[in-house]
Amino acid sequence: MSIDFPHPIPTSWYAVASSGDLAPGDVRPLEYLGRQLVVFRTRSGVAHVLDAHCPHLGAHLGIGGIVVEETLRCPFHGWRFDGRGQCVEVPYAKRIPPSAGARVYPTLERNGFVWAWYDATGSDPNFEIPTLDQINSPDWVESFRRTWQIKTQIQEMGENGVDSAHFPTVHGSAELPRSNVSENGAHRQAIQYTVLDTSKGRAKNVIEVNSSGMGFGFTHFTGLCETISMNLMTPIDAESTEFSVVFLQRRDEVGAGLARAICLDLEQQIGEDIPIWENKLYRSKPLLCDGDGPIAEYRRWCAQFYRAPPPA
Ligand code: FES
Ligand SMILES: [Fe+2]
Repeated sequence: MSIDFPHPIPTSWYAVASSGDLAPGDVRPLEYLGRQLVVFRTRSGVAHVLDAHCPHLGAHLGIGGIVVEETLRCPFHGWRFDGRGQCVEVPYAKRIPPSAGARVYPTLERNGFVWAWYDATGSDPNFEIPTLDQINSPDWVESFRRTWQIKTQIQEMGENGVDSAHFPTVHGSAELPRSNVSENGAHRQAIQYTVLDTSKGRAKNVIEVNSSGMGFGFTHFTGLCETISMNLMTPIDAESTEFSVVFLQRRDEVGAGLARAICLDLEQQIGEDIPIWENKLYRSKPLLCDGDGPIAEYRRWCAQFYRAPPPA
């Protein structure tokens, strides 16, 4: 039995809300990162994420809290907090306690989602989520979206992509995919060349898998029907993950049989992986052999995102 599972929650950007679901003035409770959080959008349109429980007497800011201009007002005694987590008003007191503040998570909005930065030590973001040109292109549309809650960790899910030998067994692939991997700090790219059997014969496929930290990746499929899948992985806690995939396809190809078949095939593959992920052990010293794929390299890349919290 492994003794080092689960890993701590890695440092990364994590999607916590769909931008379109959070209008100015909206407040939502969240359960991610092993804690209770609140996300709100100010009247001017900026999204912020805070720890949910008010530093005063502990009310949940996401249950009954309301947005007042650029602040979130606690439902219990009306203290107001700005986007830095700082208390800016106590309606009945002459002086605001100087240390009155809620923990704030740096936030950005990109590719249609609100992202919160998590680092166990409280460090500021040290990389960016890339913008996908296709998100704002009139030639591309979202064609498919699906979310799972899976009892596993992001590292285990990501390892799937480099675990060449599971493709024939779990997914029925005709051959082991080969990949060229390059790394640049928090970013990683794997380019896989595969051959697919289709009703029109064999087709060469290129699959470019891009990761930025542990919470965001996008896969660009070319060859048959150009498709982008955005992969969003957000820890619910240290042992479970919310996994969403959003597919983008060319407007003039969406709805055609092939475009739909690609989405459904990938959805099926995830369904095939889930029972393996949810029931496997993490082996810190796996028994690897040639043909297994660059699993050790992937784990080394992941290690940069684990930071121990400061001693209590
Ligand atoms: S508990 Fe939030 S203002 Fe008192
Ligand atoms: Fe898989």
